[in-house]
Amino acid sequence: MSTQNARGAAVLAGLGGWLPPRVVDNDELSRRLDTSDEWIRTRTGIARRRVVDPGMSTTDMAVEAGRRALDSAGEYGEDIDALVLATSTPDHPCPASAPEVASALGLKEAAAFDVAAVCSGFVYALATAVGLISGGVAGRVLLIGADAFTTLLDPDDRTTVPIFGDGAGAVVLREGSPDELGAIGPFDLGSDGELKDLLIVPAGGSRKKASDDPRDHFFTMQGQAVFRHATAKMASSSRKVLEKAGWTTTDVDRFVGHQANIRILQAVAKNLGLPVDSLVVNLEHTGNTSAASIPLAFVDGVVDGTLQEGDRVLVTAFGAGLTWGSTVLRWPALRCAPLP
Ligand code: ACO
Repeated sequence: MSTQNARGAAVLAGLGGWLPPRVVDNDELSRRLDTSDEWIRTRTGIARRRVVDPGMSTTDMAVEAGRRALDSAGEYGEDIDALVLATSTPDHPCPASAPEVASALGLKEAAAFDVAAVCSGFVYALATAVGLISGGVAGRVLLIGADAFTTLLDPDDRTTVPIFGDGAGAVVLREGSPDELGAIGPFDLGSDGELKDLLIVPAGGSRKKASDDPRDHFFTMQGQAVFRHATAKMASSSRKVLEKAGWTTTDVDRFVGHQANIRILQAVAKNLGLPVDSLVVNLEHTGNTSAASIPLAFVDGVVDGTLQEGDRVLVTAFGAGLTWGSTVLRWPALRCAPLP
C-alpha cells in the first residue's frame, strides 16, 4: 500500500514530546522482580523508563506533547484542522481520546480521531495525516503518538515490565511542496493478523468482554518470535520504501526505528547495510513507549544534534497486530524543547 501526494505534500513543521515525571530504573525493578540491571541492559539496551502515576492518563500526556509541538510550529501551530492521536491505550474503550485532547488544546471543532496500530501507530497515523493533507481534507494537522503502555502490564511479569515505558510525542504537519525539506513520504505499510496472538491483551474488547480474571487484561508477548518478525519486517519494509523513494541505503543519513530493543535496531541496520552510527537511539532512558517512541526519538535527535537540517531520514516501525510501516523525509529546520 502506498500514498501519493496528489495535491501537494505534507511537511513537518513542529515537534514536541513529553514524559511523565516518575523515573523507574532497572535497579528499582530488580528489587521487586527476578531480574537485574545487567540482564535488562544487555538484552534490551534499556536503563530506565518513565511511568505514569495512578490517575495520569494517555490524554494527559498527549496534551503536554501536543502543546509543545504547537509551540515549536510557530504560526503553523495556528488554525489546526485535524488532530490524529495514535494510541492503543485510550483513556476509555469508548469514545476515542483525540476529541478530549483537541478540546484541552483549544482546537475548537477540529476533526479528531484515534488510530490504533500499537507500536506502528505513529507511522500509520503519519500516513493518515499525510492523506488528509494531500487529499485536501485538512491544511494543518496535529499528530500525537501517546501511550500509557505500563497500564496494560502485569506488574509481576518480568518478561514485559522491563521493556515498556510511558510518554507522548507530537508533530505538526502543514500543506507544502514535495521538494521542500520536511516533505513526508512515500510510505510502505503492512500487517499480518494471523500473528495477532504474539502480542495481545486477551479480554476487554468485543470478542471477550471484561473478565473476572485480571490476567485476561494484561498484555502478553512472545518475545523471541516478536524479535524475529520485527527484525525481518522492519528491514523488508525499509527496503520497499527506499525503492519507492528512489533512494538506496547509501543515501540514508539517519535511521529512526521504533525504539523496541537496541538489538532489533542494530540487526535491522546490519541487514540494510546501514552504519550503526546512523541509528537515532533514545530507548536507554525511555524504554519502549509504543506509539510515542518515534516522535520522542525525533525530539532527542534534534536536541542533541543527531538530526540535522537536510539529513535523509528513514523511519520504520513494527508492532502488535502484527503491523509495520516505513516512510522517509529530508529533515527540516526545526526547533523543539528538550524532553522534561
Ligand atoms: N530478567 C531475567 N531473566 C529473564 C527476564 C528478565 N526480565 N525475562 C526473561 N528472562 C529469562 C527467560 O526466562 C529465559 O530463561 P531460560 O533461558 O532459563 O529459559 C532467558 O531469560 C532468555 O529469555 P529469552 O526470551 O530467550 O530472551 P531474549 O534474548 O529473547 O530477550 C526480549 C527477551 C528482550 C523480550 C526479546 O525477545 C525482545 O526484545 N523481543 C522483542 C520484544 C518487543 O520488541 N516487543 C515490543 C513489540 S512492539 C509492540 O507493538 C508492543
